[in-house]
Amino acid sequence: MSMKAPASSSYLLLAPLALLVLVVVVFLLPSLDGSQRVGSDGLGGVLCSPRSTGADDYTVAPAAAVAAADPTPTREEPELSLLVGVLTMPKRYERRDIVRLAYALQPEAARARVDVRFVFCRVSDPVDAQLVAMEAIRHGDVVELDCEENMNHGKTYAYLSSVPRLFASTPYDYVMKTDDDTYLRVAALVDELRPKPRDDVYLGYGYAMGGHPMPFMHGMGYVVSWDVASWVSTAEEILARNDTEGPEDLMVGKWLNLAGRGRNRYDLKPRMYDLSWDMDNFRPDTVAVHMLKDNRRWAATFSYFNVTAGIEPSKLHHSP
Ligand SMILES: *[C@@H]1O[C@H](CO)[C@@H](O)[C@H](O)[C@H]1NC(C)=O
Ligand SMILES: *[C@@H]1O[C@H](CO)[C@@H](O)[C@H](O)[C@H]1NC(C)=O
Repeated sequence: MSMKAPASSSYLLLAPLALLVLVVVVFLLPSLDGSQRVGSDGLGGVLCSPRSTGADDYTVAPAAAVAAADPTPTREEPELSLLVGVLTMPKRYERRDIVRLAYALQPEAARARVDVRFVFCRVSDPVDAQLVAMEAIRHGDVVELDCEENMNHGKTYAYLSSVPRLFASTPYDYVMKTDDDTYLRVAALVDELRPKPRDDVYLGYGYAMGGHPMPFMHGMGYVVSWDVASWVSTAEEILARNDTEGPEDLMVGKWLNLAGRGRNRYDLKPRMYDLSWDMDNFRPDTVAVHMLKDNRRWAATFSYFNVTAGIEPSKLHHSP
């Protein structure tokens, strides 16, 4: 568990009480980084002091990096902040475990505040409600929106339009939507974002169509700046046109195109891509690789990116 790293990906907490005022229920508990924690009076502070449990540390670096790290770093001000919303479904426990590991066991993004949250619609099944609540306590990374679980019937709208209210007390420069079959390399994305404008941004895998180079960004993962998410939250025209129905990535592009928003567009092809059937098209400069639809493909991905390369020899387990 590394407390030593520079300001980077600290996983913050928002005051749950403030959020309960909203219709949307959000579980956000303190994470490891006490120095940057806001509103630590939530359940998490009582039930699981992060240091005592070691939970929720998304800033773990591979063992080799930990050993080599400078023990007395200075904290630097974040240059940018990014909320990563992984849209998933309550029953996908195993996948969520893997995705949590994927985010936890990657190098931190330097000088950035990055929070990763798993995003659901209402968790209506009582079994899931119990188990997801335990994830919320343990990991503090669950966001439950006021919608019915779906993919192309408004979940993305619910997410983007809720974020500005849910996170009003600690706004982010950028808001990302991604999926639970995408391996996102946060540091690589942050390095892309660092020199970009903080406003009117729409970045991802540009999907060329109808002679336009990037009328929308592929749903594997896209980033909008905070002002764009704020606009979505107030844009009655989206609802009036029933434009929450349909392929979510295409629809986001449609909203922005019609309104002239997200004009600072960046296409991260080929650094964002679908993993091929044969899993032979990984790139060292990957920002995001998508189509990780089974454990075999996740394992290949972790292997390619040397996620366990720094593991200490042990008689207790075998390394790949
Ligand atoms: C919106 O779309 C849904 C699904 O296609 C349809 O059932 C509903 O009637 C539409 N509503 C409006 C206001 O057009
Ligand atoms: C993984 O480690 C190998 C051996 O050190 C290295 O050659 C390769 O570039 C690394 N791969 C990535 C994606 O960093």
